[in-house]
Amino acid sequence: MSLTHSVPQLLTKMSSIMWYLLFVTLITSPTVHANESSTQNMKVDACNISGVWRNELGSTLRVKAEGSEVRGVYLTAVESVSGAAGLNRTAQILGVVGDGTQPTVSFSVLWEKGSCSAWVGQCFLLGDGAQVLRTFWILRSVADNLSGDWGSTRLGEDLFFKISN
Ligand SMILES: *[C@@H]1O[C@H](CO)[C@@H](O)[C@H](O)[C@H]1NC(C)=O
Ligand SMILES: *[C@@H]1O[C@H](CO)[C@@H](O)[C@H](O)[C@H]1NC(C)=O
Ligand SMILES: *[C@@H]1O[C@H](CO)[C@@H](O)[C@H](O)[C@H]1NC(C)=O
Ligand SMILES: *[C@@H]1O[C@H](CO)[C@@H](O)[C@H](O)[C@H]1NC(C)=O
Repeated sequence: MSLTHSVPQLLTKMSSIMWYLLFVTLITSPTVHANESSTQNMKVDACNISGVWRNELGSTLRVKAEGSEVRGVYLTAVESVSGAAGLNRTAQILGVVGDGTQPTVSFSVLWEKGSCSAWVGQCFLLGDGAQVLRTFWILRSVADNLSGDWGSTRLGEDLFFKISN
């Protein structure tokens, strides 16, 4: 096979690969879009605390409300010192939630090594149907004695996005 012959052949092959890629992109992208928007545009008329939430750090909150009681599991992506949240980095959640379309919420966890965290905040329904949980948290670490008390409390903010019901 001569060089002058094989180059156009190669080009033809390359362009067919490109056409194939374009085709695949075209047929998959509407699916991906519909898929993404399906969670965003869930027909909701209230912010419902029950479900799975993820915050800006990648921590996951999986909760279920029964009346005003909230229970679930918190999976943290961060910890004050390595190991503080235990091997699994999970903890049981106990909390309360108000009623109404954008209820307030409060919940706590006890970490394996004895520290504890509490969040208070509110569940908001956005214009596009998305639900967010705006919270402040306080983390209490274990101090060895009263002189260690002053530096044992941390305060911060978390914004959770609902990722599934
Ligand atoms: C998105 O689509 C994938 C593959 O079709 C599916 O496994 C996944 O559960 C879908 N996610 C949602 C939120 O619908
Ligand atoms: C919240 O959603 C759960 C299911 O995910 C449902 O059982 C419950 O009735 C909903 N609560 C409200 C107040 O709509
Ligand atoms: C950690 O996860 C493993 C496997 O899921 C489980 O067997 C174990 O009981 C968990 N430990 C704690 C402390 O939650
Ligand atoms: C308090 O604990 C710290 C850290 O373990 C220790 O260095 C300090 O001596 C303790 N102070 C008292 C008054 O026991």
